[in-house]
Amino acid sequence: MEKKNIDWSSLGFGYVKTDLRYVSNYKDGAWDDGCLTEDATVTISECACVLQYAQTCFEGLKAYTTEDGHIVCFRPDLNAQRMANSARRLKMPAFPEDRFVQAVVETVRANAQWVPPFGSGATMYVRPYMFGSDAIIGVKPATEYQFRVFVTPVGPYFKGGVKPLTVRISDLDRAAPKGTGHVKAGLNYAMSLYNIVDAHEQGYDENVYVDSATRTHIEETGGANIIFVSGNTLVTPKSDTILPSITRRSLLQVAKDYLGMEVEERPVALSEIGEFTECGLCGTAAVISPVGTIVDHGKEIHYAGMGPTIQKLYDTLTGIQMGRLPAPEGWITVIA
Ligand code: PLP
Ligand code: COI
Repeated sequence: MEKKNIDWSSLGFGYVKTDLRYVSNYKDGAWDDGCLTEDATVTISECACVLQYAQTCFEGLKAYTTEDGHIVCFRPDLNAQRMANSARRLKMPAFPEDRFVQAVVETVRANAQWVPPFGSGATMYVRPYMFGSDAIIGVKPATEYQFRVFVTPVGPYFKGGVKPLTVRISDLDRAAPKGTGHVKAGLNYAMSLYNIVDAHEQGYDENVYVDSATRTHIEETGGANIIFVSGNTLVTPKSDTILPSITRRSLLQVAKDYLGMEVEERPVALSEIGEFTECGLCGTAAVISPVGTIVDHGKEIHYAGMGPTIQKLYDTLTGIQMGRLPAPEGWITVIA
């Protein structure tokens, strides 16, 4: 199979229209059979619940070309599960988890020419999402929904590749106790846009959110969870109001089982972050992006950037994802 003629290494994290995407519609209490389509546009009512009341959630995962030429994706079952949770929180009908995985596999396979080659520095980002599609004007859930999956080849999420990030402790909040911070609702991202534009204007790469109830503990950034390193220990914030990152959950296991590290998932106080030696942002898009500096209202806390432990975690995780290292049972789904 011939790959598309693209300069893969110069790709940023952007949308490139590929050949086929998956669509399934929910009506009268049931999802239809779904199919692949060439049509990259969505036509819905001007009064669709997603347009009026932001009834939408999404997922993000990646597909990779392995060294021996297979196409694989990483733990799609966990994305299926998380999307079902998001849907329930937003009063949407969950798309069946086995069908979610099948839709991801079919969409990636149908766009195999767009999966960046092994070693190119790029990967294929897979974006499943769903939304309330029928006309709703009183505040209530839609009765009709659309579930879609598209794919797009991507490069690094943060401009500048592996350059250590400078992030700031945010004064604005992303999630409230008992709110929606733990699900991947579009509304969590809509309300972060003001803050990310402001962060960029002030010279920061991302916002680090703290818990909105006490403003004393680290939560996560706008698009990734946070990891810290102290000696041989990987520490990551535990909170009910952050997104349960699949990358972070995988890294905890990688640190323990592949690298013999201690792992701690616990509340991380803002007052202790100066004690860590390394810090990184982790997620599907971010992979592991090293943090060089956290700025807390004028006070700068410096980290090693791509320090030895973050490097080892990065190499091991991406090694598993790209087939260079054996994966734990069930982590890799072979697509082609
Ligand atoms: N936190 C937020 C707010 C995110 O948007 C993401 C991206 O999905 C993550 C964390 C990382 O999650 P995952 O590792 O499952 O991609
Ligand atoms: C992902 O990592 O999949 C995300 O959804 C994060 C987003 C900021 C691109």
